[in-house]
Amino acid sequence: MTTNRGRVDGKVAIVTGAASGLGRADALRLAEEGARLVLTDINAEAGLEVATSCGGTFVAQDVGDEATWAPLIESTMNAHGRLDVLVNNAGIARIDTIESTSTETWREVMNVHVDATFFGCRAAIPAMTSSGGGSIINMSSTAALVGLAPYLAYSAAKGAIRAMTKSIASHCRGERNGIRCNSVHPGSISTPMVHDALSTLAGIDLMDQPDPEATRIALGIGEPLDVANMILFLSSDESKHVNGAELVIDNADTVDQVRR
Ligand SMILES: NC(=O)c1ccc[n+]([C@@H]2O[C@H](COP(=O)([O-])OP(=O)(O)OC[C@H]3O[C@@H](n4cnc5c(N)ncnc54)[C@H](O)[C@@H]3O)[C@@H](O)[C@H]2O)c1
Repeated sequence: MTTNRGRVDGKVAIVTGAASGLGRADALRLAEEGARLVLTDINAEAGLEVATSCGGTFVAQDVGDEATWAPLIESTMNAHGRLDVLVNNAGIARIDTIESTSTETWREVMNVHVDATFFGCRAAIPAMTSSGGGSIINMSSTAALVGLAPYLAYSAAKGAIRAMTKSIASHCRGERNGIRCNSVHPGSISTPMVHDALSTLAGIDLMDQPDPEATRIALGIGEPLDVANMILFLSSDESKHVNGAELVIDNADTVDQVRR
């Protein structure tokens, strides 16, 4: 008798910022393919709902708070005995240029993206090493590749995540610990974060369109599953030779911006 095994069957994955948008889609897709999930977010109500729908557990966490990371990794190891995947996905976008960004906003954005990714990677590596290896996936953005004028701190933070990822990948390769580390760079994807940006910057309420799906496609905006499928690939052993890479998911948006 043959059994249908999922692409990440039995792997234990932590996904941060899993209450909404891309993190939610990642969690649901990984669960479909057999992963055991530990989901975190500052939004406990929505996070718990996602965890329930994918048979995972939810842990309330502010990813920028260093003290939350050791207990998260410890409780995951106690519950599952291993850690295979960490998706550092939680994020915030603040619309401000170099001239309008306050020091407070700069520090807030750096904390949620850069500090948190550093805390998460550093905390996960010993647990993954003792599990025989793993995959760390850091959510960056095309903002890291081109620098977006209205997103000064965000672009800088995502650029730091891109470089940090390569440094970690190189370190882990040298350590021969079986851990891979890659960054993912979506363009505009239809999530609450992008809906807010569209409304603030272009006056478009995507969800209030007669046919939101047709408008999404017309505007060249991707859907969360486009990213979740990449997260699934990077979480699985199919990507065993992909390390230190930057995976762009933008239907050539960045290429066009560079050419213009
Ligand atoms: N949507 C896009 O087009 C796009 C493009 C490129 C990169 N990204 C990145 O993808 C990630 C997810 O974005 P999204 O579009 O799904 O946004 P979203 O706003 O829908 O979801 C972000 C989630 O992160 C959580 N979060 C925020 N601050 C947190 C904190 N301090 N601790 C824990 N959780 C926190 C929020 O509660 C929310 O559930 C972010 O890192 C974002 O920068 C998104």
